[in-house]
Amino acid sequence: MRVLICEDAAAAARRTADLLCAQVAARADAVLGLATGGTMEPVYALLRARCAAGTLDLSRVTTFNLDEYIGLPQDHPQSYRATIQRMLFDAARIPPERGHFPDGTAPDPGAASAQYEGLIAAAGGIDLQLLGIGENGHIGFNEPTSSLGSRTRPKTLTQSTRAANARFFGPDEKAPRFAITMGIATVLDARACVLIATGHKKAAAVAAAIEGPVSAVCPASALQMHPAATLLLDPEAAADLTLREYYDTVHPGGGEAPL
Ligand code: GLP
Repeated sequence: MRVLICEDAAAAARRTADLLCAQVAARADAVLGLATGGTMEPVYALLRARCAAGTLDLSRVTTFNLDEYIGLPQDHPQSYRATIQRMLFDAARIPPERGHFPDGTAPDPGAASAQYEGLIAAAGGIDLQLLGIGENGHIGFNEPTSSLGSRTRPKTLTQSTRAANARFFGPDEKAPRFAITMGIATVLDARACVLIATGHKKAAAVAAAIEGPVSAVCPASALQMHPAATLLLDPEAAADLTLREYYDTVHPGGGEAPL
């Protein structure tokens, strides 16, 4: 695991955007796994700005969203499809047929999940998967105790995840109870994983993910098994790490190793 502790949240977002840009520079038709959530918003703002400035061209990429709520209409502003459309697709001019989303409106969410796995495989797998982390250590919507061997499937959300996501919904709306998410094994199949975590609310989950045992209780800890996982943190999210000094030595200021 590369643990990069950046100067602040803005620097962590910049480094995340840089890694995605480097992937696209290496392969213009890269297959990208996209995540949503508040932490990702500054990352997408940077990507939009780079597209507008002409320094980033996403017109040839293929994308797969990590997860989607079940039961929200696709055009609901808080569906992850609508969110990514707003945050990236409109500005990046990614052709709609190359953006893929789990179908949270499918009558058979299990069948839709299996189909999604097939689409990822048919695209040749994911080159780079962006990830956030939940306060309880979830990645995508793989809640604690999700199988480390799980594939894309419907999941029931925990009360804490629903409470954390309630802020995105109106006072009269209930945050959805179910979602389709790539599984932990699906995420681990990506050739590179990039997880960004900022803010003190993520500190405990981040410490468990990096320094705890590999355990279904902290789904993000599965990234310890991945050969090319990078975690970008701000100092608040890194606050509970025991080996902080070591990470700062290997990657001063969140930069590349001096070796
Ligand atoms: C949500 C999403 C995750 C996201 C996480 C953190 O439930 N399903 O993909 O990483 O929670 O979200 P935030 O960045 O808003 O804290």
